Amino acid sequence: MTPAEPAHPGDTGEPGAAVDIDLTDPEAMVGEDTFDRALRPRALSEFSGQPDVRERLEILVDAARLRGEPLDHLLFCGPPGLGKTTLAHIVAAESGVTLRQTSGPALERPGDLASILLNLEEGDVLFVDEIHRLPRTVEEILYPAMEDGGVDIVVGKGPTARTVRLDLPSFTLVGATTRAGMLTSPLRDRFGFVARLGFYDPEDLVRIVARSASILQTQTDEAGAHEIARRSRGTPRIANRLLRRVRDFATVRASGRIDRDVAAAALDLFGVDEAGLDALDRDLLRAMIESHAGGPVGLGTLGVLVGEEPETLEDVVEPYLLQQGYLRRTPRGRIVTAMAYEHLGHELPGAQGTFNV
Ligand SMILES: Nc1ncnc2c1ncn2[C@@H]1O[C@H](COP(=O)(O)OP(=O)(O)OP(=O)(O)O)[C@@H](O)[C@H]1O
Ligand SMILES: [Mg+2]
Repeated sequence: MTPAEPAHPGDTGEPGAAVDIDLTDPEAMVGEDTFDRALRPRALSEFSGQPDVRERLEILVDAARLRGEPLDHLLFCGPPGLGKTTLAHIVAAESGVTLRQTSGPALERPGDLASILLNLEEGDVLFVDEIHRLPRTVEEILYPAMEDGGVDIVVGKGPTARTVRLDLPSFTLVGATTRAGMLTSPLRDRFGFVARLGFYDPEDLVRIVARSASILQTQTDEAGAHEIARRSRGTPRIANRLLRRVRDFATVRASGRIDRDVAAAALDLFGVDEAGLDALDRDLLRAMIESHAGGPVGLGTLGVLVGEEPETLEDVVEPYLLQQGYLRRTPRGRIVTAMAYEHLGHELPGAQGTFNV
């Protein structure tokens, strides 16, 4: 079984606590995960964008604190990289409690979850990532835990076996999922608040890029931050990743300072186009146009066409293309829109002449 670990050993849990990694120390640079953690906001006040979610969470956290009660169970839904894990940590930090982290696929048997629940301390946040992947038998342990604060344990074997209810300390379950639709309704109904995270506005991403640049001690002007933000697919994780690539480019090919021209040249070089689409996005749209006359195409076929798992396409690639209007879903499969033809410089079927990109 997988025990729930405190998420960041050594974390002070203080809202707004200083970043615990020195980003200027090359020894501390053990990969992109390190950056991810260092750039993660630690308090609601550092979390840009999603104003509705932020305001509602602030009220929930303050109300629970004023009443001296544990926070109600929370569910964060939305595409990858929009801040679900970040918010779970922030909620725990703002409430002054410890966060224990596990995930749906790590909990294989009911006993795995029961033992984590029984080891919680009063007030803890239990963060279950990818909660839609909890096996059904494990999920059933959660129902009484969330509602009545207990777990039912079977004691003994055979005819003498009986169920004993063990009381749990009060705790807050925070679930995260990229697939809210896959959650069963008994589970969904037991959350007191469901927050749906959507893609970020460019202005919010500009703030996120500016904050990350200052943590990375990289000089960036407003236009440079804007160029990165605009091409980040509405996603903070991507904004941070592109910032790091632009920062690399600026170090090697420019003075180290990021302005609009440096950002644009770097992003072009790394294959992120004017609209923020990357090679996989373009391959997908192009394959649909060139091999399937624009669709409809089923997800499985699309996966084969571009050499990706259908789940990855559905979770990671498709949401932004749908939101931006390059793709549409129909009952018979995905179809590309005129906007996709135009973006790739392909002639629209039945149209005269070509579009200019
Ligand atoms: N609102 C925000 N303000 C600033 N940075 C953010 C914000 N949201 C996310 N980030 C940054 O983006 C990164 C990814 O966020 P996070 O890990 O919380 O996403 P997620 O929704 O949990 O993604 P996944 O579904 O892949 O688990 C974080 O490391 C953090 O630095
Ligand atoms: Mg996450």
